[in-house]
Amino acid sequence: MKSCAITLLMGLVLLLQPLFLPAATPLLPGIAEREAERALGLKPDPAKGRELYRICIVCHSPEGWGSENGYYPQIAGQLYGVIIKQLADIRAGNRDNPTMFPFSMPGTLGGAQEMADVAAYIAALPMSPHNGRGPGHDLVLGERIYRDECAECHGEWGEGSAGDRIPLLRGQHYYYLKRQFRWIRNGKRRNADEKMVKQAQHFSGREISAVMDYISRIEPEPGRVVGPDWTNPDFPNYARHSMPGLMQHRLRRRPEVRPR
Ligand code: HEC
Ligand code: HEC
Repeated sequence: MKSCAITLLMGLVLLLQPLFLPAATPLLPGIAEREAERALGLKPDPAKGRELYRICIVCHSPEGWGSENGYYPQIAGQLYGVIIKQLADIRAGNRDNPTMFPFSMPGTLGGAQEMADVAAYIAALPMSPHNGRGPGHDLVLGERIYRDECAECHGEWGEGSAGDRIPLLRGQHYYYLKRQFRWIRNGKRRNADEKMVKQAQHFSGREISAVMDYISRIEPEPGRVVGPDWTNPDFPNYARHSMPGLMQHRLRRRPEVRPR
């Protein structure tokens, strides 16, 4: 009952929010940070996380590999602290994610402990070897931009930083990367690093496509990837054939940028 009332209240706040706040301001400043801190201080139980992940598989699939069209991200293998931060942000309304919002609510997912549990489970899932890539014709420019402007935070090979909660980017779908970057830039995603938001303003469309294309071609850490036919044995009876968008990237392509 209480969580139902909270959900309704949050929905109302979300609806009215554009009237009161400039786009890049977090909806409920401090709330997401405090909840993420709390979750990060707890000891996660991945076995419980596996049970909780049942709520998520309708959209994220048992493998957590997302869709090539970028509607769903690859969440498998994302850094533990990043997943916790994003969950806290999504449920505090700091990201516009109306599809997932109700599933992230305390009444459905639970509290800080459950966030930690499910994050630990997702972070340990192996990644798809065939994430969606860009067209591939502007990679020299893409690499230069990445090295000059992104590597400082996201790491030389897009590995992110657990301590600073900077997302791992390698292995992510090209269209998802592009969309999130645009949303960070125009303030629709209100949880991002201020310095990145500022820096993002000066990129042209061509530059954004080029850098995301380059990132989408960096091979994830070898030990983190499985074969394209892998199915998550924790969910053996799940009807995956009903998820055509999620299946496409099983079929294609080898990674091209290998960390040296
Ligand atoms: C109804 C569909 C749906 C359900 C159920 C759902 N999600 Fe999501 N999730 C999404 C969509 C769509 C996005 C991408 C949102 C965007 O584009 O900003 C997303 C994004 C995320 C992200 C952010 C990833 C990133 O790198 O930006 C995380 C983490 C995540 N989901 C975890 C979960 C967990 C954990 C659950 C279960 C408790 C869950 N999701 C349930 C649809 C869903
Ligand atoms: C000053 C540090 C910094 C720099 C420089 C930076 N980023 Fe980020 N980036 C971040 C942080 C922190 C986040 C996570 C924000 C959040 O919590 O949602 C992020 C998030 C992202 C995301 C969303 C990922 C996801 O899974 O949701 C993308 C895409 C991205 N950055 C791309 C880039 C690219 C491309 C560049 C270079 C042009 C870049 N960033 C430069 C710090 C930085």
